[in-house]
Formats: sequence, structure tokens, C-alpha cells
Amino acid sequence: MSEAKSSGLDNVVAADTLISDVDGERGRLVIAGEDVERLAQVADFETAAGRVLAAGGSGVRVNPDALAQVRAAAFRLVPGLGMALQMSDGMEALRACMAHLHSTGNDDADALSAIGAAPVFVAAWNRTRQGLAPIAPTPGLSHAADYLKMSLGTAPSDAAARALDAYLVTVIDHGMNASTFTARVVTSTASDLISAIVAGVGALKGPLHGGAPGPVLDMLDKIGEPARAEQWILDELAAGQRIMGMGHRIYRVRDPRAAVLEQAVKPLASPRLELARAVETAAAKILRERRPDRALAANVEFYTAVLLDAVGLPREQFSSTFAVGRVAGWCAHVCEQRRVGRLIRPASRYVGPMPT
Ligand code: COA
Repeated sequence: MSEAKSSGLDNVVAADTLISDVDGERGRLVIAGEDVERLAQVADFETAAGRVLAAGGSGVRVNPDALAQVRAAAFRLVPGLGMALQMSDGMEALRACMAHLHSTGNDDADALSAIGAAPVFVAAWNRTRQGLAPIAPTPGLSHAADYLKMSLGTAPSDAAARALDAYLVTVIDHGMNASTFTARVVTSTASDLISAIVAGVGALKGPLHGGAPGPVLDMLDKIGEPARAEQWILDELAAGQRIMGMGHRIYRVRDPRAAVLEQAVKPLASPRLELARAVETAAAKILRERRPDRALAANVEFYTAVLLDAVGLPREQFSSTFAVGRVAGWCAHVCEQRRVGRLIRPASRYVGPMPT
């Protein structure tokens, strides 16, 4: 291991937070005082967003009407987004689109507008890249249902809207992950919420964070049938590749969100679910044999791929759909960090030569 790698910044920062807690040893995720399994069952996105924001100290009221209004306001910005909607990568497009939001300097107002804008911009990008006109939001639809309608052009089934809702709730917050940390660092400089969210999108874009579900679906396509799973994984590892959707920095057991999403996708009768289970079983077994010292189990992205595919979203839109949910968590952390009011400045340890 190189000197530079051993001097990584792991665990340098430990922030107190009321928003969520990740217990990697036991595989437990608590969001705003509720286990993720229960939150995904009892709360829709609007409710969960309200709860994380309140936990972060925001006074903003999140309800279906308020979100419908900010989605409508965001849609009025769409004609002015220009090249941002022409970008070939969905996360690049989202980053550029979110940068068009005006910062009012009021975190509560900016949080609402960022949460409302994300699904509108992602859906508009998806339509534009197909040569289709963006679809305006529909008042009266839930955030999840409206996102699907704006993306796909038709009102979704109740089952699809419910499954997507469960997904958006499940990924809404997850401790001090890389994009959340990024958003908090930007906030800690006394910068504005929109800048923090744009930076968060940039961090989420990477395949080691939010970019894995598209490649998970590619993997399932390449494997094709359960009987081919084991050999495909062995070949992939022999070629020096990582198995997407497996492994996690914090969890030493299966990511609890994998089970929530596996459950949530069931009513949609996805033809890919059985294959995904077979691939997960084969991958977990092979990785356990290779690395008995390092638990490498399914992470949230594994069944994200199956669920987002089952609700009809294209794989190019998977990472930005993650952002549609996570933006609420980022906003909550911005509010919480604002109250801390102290610059985050990790130390570096110089290991280079000194002048003689
Ligand atoms: N497939 C195969 N091997 C893996 C692996 C995977 N998915 N994830 C980790 N490993 C191996 C690494 O090669 C490394 O082996 P080495 O010590 O021989 O070099 C060891 O396990 C530890 O990996 P490391 O990169 O130190 O773990 P990490 O905590 O930094 O990585 C992830 C966590 C998520 C980045 C990593 O597991 C990964 O790349 N997974 C695939 C991408 C993914 O699903 N991302 C979504 C995360 S929610």
C-alpha cells in the first residue's frame, strides 16, 4: 500500500447528525428516527422529505401541494436550460440544470425549489434526448407519479408509482456518504444551498457512488440467464473487474436497502428479479471464497437497477433518479450544517520531500 493511500482521510470527520444513522456491522439504517424498512412502508416521498428536513433543523413545510408548486416553477425554467438538456450524460445534464436555479439565500425556500426541480429537469432531459418535448408537471399527482409521467409521457400504474415512491424514500439519506459530505463542505464555507446541491450531484455521478445501477442492469443483460451467472462473474473477476452492485464502504453485511427494494419491486413482477437473485447469490458466494476477510454483499444499487427498470425508466436515467431522492437528504444536511456554522477543513499530512 502506498504512503498516499494509507494517509486517506477516512474517519477524520465525525459530525453529529439528527438525520440518519448507518450501522454497518448490523446492517441497520435509521432515517429521522425510523428504520428504513418501516419508513419505506409508511411514508411517501413527500412525508419522508419533510421528516429529514425537519431533522436537519429546517422549518420548511413539505407537502404534495408545495412540491407540485415548485415542480411547476421549475418547468417554467426548462426553455432557458439550453445546452444543459443536450448533454449526453444524465448526471452531467442534471448538474448543469441545477446550476440554473437561482439562490435566494434562504435555505428553506432553496431546498424546496431544488427538491421540486430535480425530477422536472431529469425528466425534461430524458424527453429532449429522444427528440420529444418535455412534459409539464401535473398538479394532484404525487412527486413519484409525476416524475414517472414527466419522464415516460403516460400516467404510471399505482404499483409503479408506489414502487418508485418506496425507492425515493429508501435512498433519501445515508449518513455521511461522499455526496452528502461534499454538500456539507460547500455549505460550511457559508456558500448557498444551490451550490452545495450542484456539488453533491458531481460527487454522486461517480460509479463508486451513484453510478452503479446502470452497469448492474448491463451486467444482468450480459449474463442473460441464472445458469450463466457463476462463470460470468468468475470471468469478470479474472479480468480484474469489480462486480457492480456488490460491496460497500460501511456495510459488512448485506445493505438493508437491498432487501427493501427487493421487496418493493415484487408487485411489478419484473422478469429480471429471478435473474438478479441468482446473480447476487453467485457473486456473494464467489466474493466470500476469494475474500473471506472482507464481506462483499449486495448494496443498494443491485435492486435499484431491477426496480427502476421495472417502473419503466431507461438505464441512462438511473443515477439521476437516485439524485431525485437524495436531494432531500442533501438539503437536510445543508440546513444542519448551517446551524453548525463552522468551516470543515480536514488536515492533510505532507509526505513529500522538504527543501534541503
Ligand atoms: N467486486 C469485486 N471486488 C470488490 C468489490 C466488488 N464489487 N468491491 C470491493 N472489492 C474488493 C476490492 O478489489 C478490494 O480488494 P483488494 O484489497 O484486493 O484491492 C477489497 O474488496 C476492498 O475494496 P475497497 O475498494 O477498499 O473497498 P471500498 O470500501 O473502498 O469500496 C465500493 C466500496 C462500493 C466502492 C466497492 O465495493 C465497489 O467498487 N463496488 C462496486 C461499485 C458499486 O456497487 N458502487 C455502489 C456503492 S453503493
